[in-house]
Amino acid sequence: MTTPVKPKDRVLVALDTPDTDKAVALSRQLAGHVGGIKLGLEFFNAAGPDGVRKVVRAGPEETPRGEAPAQQRLFLDLKFHDIPNTVAGAVRSVMPLGPSILNVHAGGGPAMMKAALDAANFEAEQLGTVRPMLIAVTVLTSLDDADLSAVGQAGPSKDQAVRLAALARKAGLDGVVCSSKEIAAIRAECGPDFKLIVPGIRPAGAALGDQKRVMTPSEAIAEGADFIVIGRPITGAENPAAAAKAIADELGGA
Ligand code: C5P
Repeated sequence: MTTPVKPKDRVLVALDTPDTDKAVALSRQLAGHVGGIKLGLEFFNAAGPDGVRKVVRAGPEETPRGEAPAQQRLFLDLKFHDIPNTVAGAVRSVMPLGPSILNVHAGGGPAMMKAALDAANFEAEQLGTVRPMLIAVTVLTSLDDADLSAVGQAGPSKDQAVRLAALARKAGLDGVVCSSKEIAAIRAECGPDFKLIVPGIRPAGAALGDQKRVMTPSEAIAEGADFIVIGRPITGAENPAAAAKAIADELGGA
C-alpha cells in the first residue's frame, strides 16, 4: 500500500461491532469517503472471514454505469502475537482476504516479525497480489508506566514504544501503530518512510468517549501521521458519510 495521495485516503474508519449487517451498511455508506475500513478482533471473532469479505465488497448502492464497486481497502487489525511458525500461518490464512494493512505485536520479537514478513511476501507472490503493509503494535496505550513495570518492561512507555518501533523497523516491517503523542519521537528514530498509523483522533468538539489524550485529524497529520484511525466520531454520527467528508475537508479536501 503506497502513501496516500488524497487527504481522505489517510482516514481509516474503525468498525468496532460484532454485527455484520451493521458493518456492511456502514461500509457501503462510507465507500469513497474514507481511505479504508479497519476491522479488528471484535468483528473478526464474531463474523469471521466471510463477514470480512461482505464488508470489503460493500460499495455504494449505485455505481456509475453499474460497474462492480471497488473493494474497500482493509486494515485487518488482528495484532498477531505467537511463536513465529504460528504467526506465519496466521498471516498466510488471512492473505486471501486481500488486506492492505496487517499487524503483529512487536513484543513477539524480531524472529516473529520476520516470519510474518516472509509469510506475507511468499503468499502475495502465490496469490499474484501486492504484499500488505506489515505494521507493528508497540505499547498498548491502555498501559501506563506502572502496568509496564508490572509486566517487567522498562518504561517510560514512550521510550519503550520507540524501542519497539526501532526493532520493528530493523525486522523489515513497514511501520507501527502509535499514539499521537509518540509520533515525533518515533519519526525521529525511524525516519520519514516508516509508516505511522495513529488512533485516538477526535475532530474539534467531538465526544472523547474513553479516549484520554487525543489530537484532531489535522493536528495528527501535521505532526507526521501517515494514516489516522477514527471510529465513533464517524460511525456514531447521524450521517457517517457527512462526518467522514467533514474530516476530509478539515484535512484539505476529498
Ligand atoms: O471510536 P474510536 O475513534 O475511539 O476508535 C479508535 C479505534 O482505534 C478502535 O478500534 C480502537 O481499538 C483502536 N485503537 C485505539 N488506541 C490504540 C490502539 C487502537 O483507540 N492505542
